[in-house]
Amino acid sequence: MSRSVLVTGGNRGIGLAIARAFADAGDKVAITYRSGEPPADLVALGVLAVRCDITDAEQVDQAYKEVEAAHGNVEVLVANAGITRDQLLMRMSEDDFTAVLDTNLTGTFRVVKRANRGMLRARKGRVVLISSVVGLLGQAGQANYAASKAGLVGFARSLARELGSRNITFNVVAPGFVDTDMTRALTDEQRADIMAQVPLARYAQPAEIAAAVRFLASDDAAYITGAVIPVDGGLGMGH
Ligand SMILES: NC(=O)c1ccc[n+]([C@@H]2O[C@H](COP(=O)([O-])OP(=O)(O)OC[C@H]3O[C@@H](n4cnc5c(N)ncnc54)[C@H](OP(=O)(O)O)[C@@H]3O)[C@@H](O)[C@H]2O)c1
Repeated sequence: MSRSVLVTGGNRGIGLAIARAFADAGDKVAITYRSGEPPADLVALGVLAVRCDITDAEQVDQAYKEVEAAHGNVEVLVANAGITRDQLLMRMSEDDFTAVLDTNLTGTFRVVKRANRGMLRARKGRVVLISSVVGLLGQAGQANYAASKAGLVGFARSLARELGSRNITFNVVAPGFVDTDMTRALTDEQRADIMAQVPLARYAQPAEIAAAVRFLASDDAAYITGAVIPVDGGLGMGH
């Protein structure tokens, strides 16, 4: 079964691994990328790359038009794009807060709202939002990020109720610490502190997050909606 799959922020890190996993399984995959050039190996695999900043509703609409023209209605949406701007509250500017919310939460709203049009028409759809263990446990210095990631849970669960009867599922994957550019930016001390709290005593590989996402988009997960699936090496212990 070849479905039209869209992954935001699919040019690197977790999004890239998710795009590869769907493409390897034979789906028609599109990614959005904001900066630079899309990875050549992904393009060689036949993945469509469209430039899009999810803080701009016009760009989101344009990206969907390109994807729909090439692959038809988006049947599986993975809202993965996200940023951090870590700072203790005392030093956190309003811009640090709103920029993170505008990308991680409102940006997700923009892409989900646009996807909903086609999914409603088709009376089917799978939406997977990439949250974080930090949204559930909190993290000093990440109040903006944690608020945005916790917001995704309420957002997904509300939509699961609103659109379940239309055969559209909304689920959240909450990764722990994953080996990507985002965590490479942490100091050695922060990395050691985190590692000490992870029962599996290692970072996740991006492909391990992709596996959970693919499951939620598969037929085997047809009766799962409104769920938060932790992929965190035990860090959150189910929270
Ligand atoms: N790494 C972790 O440990 C971890 C843990 C839990 C959750 N997560 C979440 O997983 C997701 C992916 O994280 P990652 O580690 O793969 O991060 P990453 O390597 O920093 O990649 C982030 C991706 O999001 C894109 N992006 C950021 N702002 C955007 C915007 N305004 N419009 C469009 N695209 C935008 C980036 O595009 P550019 O290349 O143009 O910057 C990039 O493709 C994020 O939502 C993150 O919060 C990560």
